[in-house]
Amino acid sequence: MTERDFDVVVWGASGFTGRLVAEYLYEQYGVGASLRWAVAGRDMPRLEVLRRGLGAAGESLPILIADSHDPASLRQLVNRTRVVCTTVGPYALHGSELVAVCAELGTHYCDLSGEVHWMRRMIDTHHETARRQGARIVHCCGFDSIPSDLGVHWLQREMRARQGVYCQAVKYRTESFKGAFSGGSVASMLNLLESAEDDPSITTILKDPYALNPAGAPRGLDGPEKTNPEYDLDFRAWVAPFMLAEVNTKVVRRSNALLGHPYGIGFRYDEGMIMPFGQLGFPLAVGMAGGSVAFNGALRTAPLRKWLSAVLPKPGDGPDEAARESGHFQIQLLGIHPDNATHNLRLRIRGDRDPGYGSTARMLGEAAVCLAHDGLAREGGVLTPATAMGDALIDRLDANAGVTFSALDED
Ligand SMILES: NC(=O)c1ccc[n+]([C@@H]2O[C@H](COP(=O)([O-])OP(=O)(O)OC[C@H]3O[C@@H](n4cnc5c(N)ncnc54)[C@H](OP(=O)(O)O)[C@@H]3O)[C@@H](O)[C@H]2O)c1
Repeated sequence: MTERDFDVVVWGASGFTGRLVAEYLYEQYGVGASLRWAVAGRDMPRLEVLRRGLGAAGESLPILIADSHDPASLRQLVNRTRVVCTTVGPYALHGSELVAVCAELGTHYCDLSGEVHWMRRMIDTHHETARRQGARIVHCCGFDSIPSDLGVHWLQREMRARQGVYCQAVKYRTESFKGAFSGGSVASMLNLLESAEDDPSITTILKDPYALNPAGAPRGLDGPEKTNPEYDLDFRAWVAPFMLAEVNTKVVRRSNALLGHPYGIGFRYDEGMIMPFGQLGFPLAVGMAGGSVAFNGALRTAPLRKWLSAVLPKPGDGPDEAARESGHFQIQLLGIHPDNATHNLRLRIRGDRDPGYGSTARMLGEAAVCLAHDGLAREGGVLTPATAMGDALIDRLDANAGVTFSALDED
C-alpha cells in the first residue's frame, strides 16, 4: 500500500455509534500520537460539534467530507487512509459504493453490518478484487459477531495446543447481558424486513446456515436456527433462541470455510441464551422464544412495523451514557473434544459495557487499529474477524477494550 495520510478514518462519526467510536479512539490513542486518524461524514457542522465534544486535543483532529452515494468523494477519502471504519448504515442502503472503492484501492475496511443478504452481495461482487488488491474487508466487527467468531478461534487454538485436535463442535451461550437498541440498528432491521418483503430470495439467504460461505464450498451438518427452547445438559439449563444467532453462526461457518475447513466440514456451531433457575427455567425459555417469534411476526406485518418504528428509537438516538456504563455481557462457549468429553474446554467472554454500543464501539475501534497497525499475515478478501485478525484482535480487546477472554478453569 502506498503511504497514506491516515491510519484510520471513522466514517459516520456524526451518528450515534460513530461518535462512540471516535470518543473511544480519542481516549485510547489521543490525537497526533501513535495513531494517525480522522473523522468523516457528510455534514461539517455536525462533525465540528462532535470534535468540540471530544476535549481540548480534539480541535486538531482532521475532518473529511464525502457522501456515500458520491463515488468521486468516496474515492478521495478512501485514498487517504489505510483503514475505513464505517458506521454509516443501514449498510444495504448506504454501504455498497464504499466497499467497492475500498476493494479497488486496496484499503482495509471494517463495519458493524449484521445485514446478511447485503454481505452475501459484497462477497459475490468484491471478494476477488479485494483479494487481488490486498484489501481486508471485514464485516460484523461489533457484538455481532466478534465474541462468536473470536470465541471459536480461541477455543480451537487452545484445543489444538492442549490436545492436538480441533473441537468437533462449539456451543455459544449468553449467560447474562444488559443493553438496548439505537435508532440506526432499528432502521437496519426494518430495512432488512422491508427488502425481504419485496425480494423473497432474501429470506432464503437468511434461513441458509451456510449463506456466507465461499461459492461452491462444501456444506456442513448445521440446519436453520432453532426457534424452540431446549434443555441443554452441557449447561444444565434451559436455552432459548438467541436473536443474533442468525448472523453470528454464518460468520463462524465462513471463517472455517475461508481457512479451508481445519475444524472439519462436519464442524457444528450453535448459539442460545441460558435461562436462569436450572430445570425451572422452562417457562422463561418458552416466554423468551414466544416473545421473539411474536416480535419477528410483528416486524413482518406492515402496519405493526409502522407502529413499532414510531415508538422505537430514531436514527441518531440510542442508550445514554449511564445505560452504556451500567450495561455488560457475559458469554460462555463450550468446545467439544471429538472423542473424549473430559478434554472439553470452556471459555468465558466478558464485556464491561452494554454489548450493542459501549462494547461494540470499542471492538470496532480496536478492529480498525488492528487492521492498520498489526502487520497481519492474512491476504485480502471479504474476510471475517477471526480470519482477518484472530489473536491480534483478541489481545487488543483484552488489553484495551474491557472485553476479556478467559478459560473457565482460570476464571
Ligand atoms: N452489529 C452491532 O453490534 C451494531 C451496533 C450498533 C450499530 N450497528 C449498526 O451501525 C449502523 C449505524 O447505527 P447508528 O445507531 O450509529 O446510526 P445513526 O445514528 O443513524 O448514524 C448513521 C450515520 O450514517 C450517516 N449517513 C447516512 N447517510 C449518509 C450518506 N449518504 N453519506 C454519508 N453519511 C451518511 C449519518 O450521517 P448524518 O449525521 O449526516 O445524518 C450518521 O453519521 C447501523 O447500520 C446499525 O445497525 C450495529
